[in-house]
Amino acid sequence: MATEIIATGKAVPARRVTNDDLARGEWIAATKIDTNDEWIRSHTGIGARHIADEDTAASDLALEAAKQALVMAVGWDGTGNGAASREAAIAETALTLDFIIIATVTPDFLGCPSTACIVQDKIGAKNAAAMDITAGCTGFVYGLETAAGLLSINKGRKRALVIGADVLTKVANWNDRGTCVLFGDGSGAVVVEKTGNPSEGPGKRGLLRTILGADGSGTEYLINRRGGTRNPWKTGEIVDIPPHLEMDGRAVYNFAVKAVTETISRLLAEEGASSGAALTFNDLAWIVPHQANARIVQAAGKRLGIPEEKFFLNIEEYANTSAASIPIALDEMNRGGKLHKGDLILTVGFGGGLTYGGNLIVW
Ligand code: ACO
Repeated sequence: MATEIIATGKAVPARRVTNDDLARGEWIAATKIDTNDEWIRSHTGIGARHIADEDTAASDLALEAAKQALVMAVGWDGTGNGAASREAAIAETALTLDFIIIATVTPDFLGCPSTACIVQDKIGAKNAAAMDITAGCTGFVYGLETAAGLLSINKGRKRALVIGADVLTKVANWNDRGTCVLFGDGSGAVVVEKTGNPSEGPGKRGLLRTILGADGSGTEYLINRRGGTRNPWKTGEIVDIPPHLEMDGRAVYNFAVKAVTETISRLLAEEGASSGAALTFNDLAWIVPHQANARIVQAAGKRLGIPEEKFFLNIEEYANTSAASIPIALDEMNRGGKLHKGDLILTVGFGGGLTYGGNLIVW
């Protein structure tokens, strides 16, 4: 029995802000950042980002990405086949879900309720359990493995909705040009299903193998210090700067290059050893990395001797959307005809925690 991704979806806010817009202070009055397009592009590969408006929270983006994935899962094509309308197709498919997992570090609310419960209610997924996962930008990689595990331990469960959704621009310090220019908002979603295909041997399909890891000694390198129980707001306290992410960019960069390099090598080596046929990057159709900085991907690729074209990159358009970046990429690739049945693809991520991980998937 294989655990396969049968549908994808994505959502990004309509407001598109280029590097030049940031430098000119044209997206938010009074926030003119001392930066320029040349610096941001040359240091990160980012050209633009999509920024949520005041009223948009993680669950709003997650909801739209989820709807797109559910519509694709049921095969509704707009002509009324099967379901009477798009909303009916969504409602129908939502009832088939056993789990909703949302990976996010920017939930609608601090801890309670989960963002997944909000989406569960809005799509009417009455039969689904719902929970959030906090694993930084690696959250989607963690979420996929969690969904596969939960589906495999109970024969009666068949389908899960796994979403990455983050609104990092709401926890960015817009006075810190070293971090705020890196972030964008968005959500990506996949429907995961237990199918009758084999998960090993000839014709194997779906999620083959996952590596998950963490190095909690790096908590200080990416941290939002305020608002949690370690450092809660106090009555009467004046807020000078809203809660925001602090980052040691150099430390995260070094961790990320090592994590990406090692995760790719290990996934290929371990799958090769267990299947009895050595695997190299040549066997991969695509590597889908977390889109934090194109230079991290280039450095890892260089160390492994993997050509840049093997990596799918859309960071130029979306910047770092945290847990949403890998599922947004998967949806773009899927809808753009870049993924074919039987393709071997590898996701790899890293992020706050610090965490890292990757999935090896036969599409
Ligand atoms: N525009 C113009 N100049 C800038 C900017 C900017 N936006 N930001 C920094 N600079 C300047 C600095 O002030 C510094 O100037 P100085 O030499 O006069 O002091 C110079 O550029 C170099 O700054 P560094 O911080 O040393 O730049 P570096 O080459 O290390 O790049 C970067 C910084 C892009 C942040 C890099 O360290 C990086 O990408 N790190 C990884 C970050 C990451 O991936 N984070 C996400 C993790 S995932 C998650 O969970 C959210």
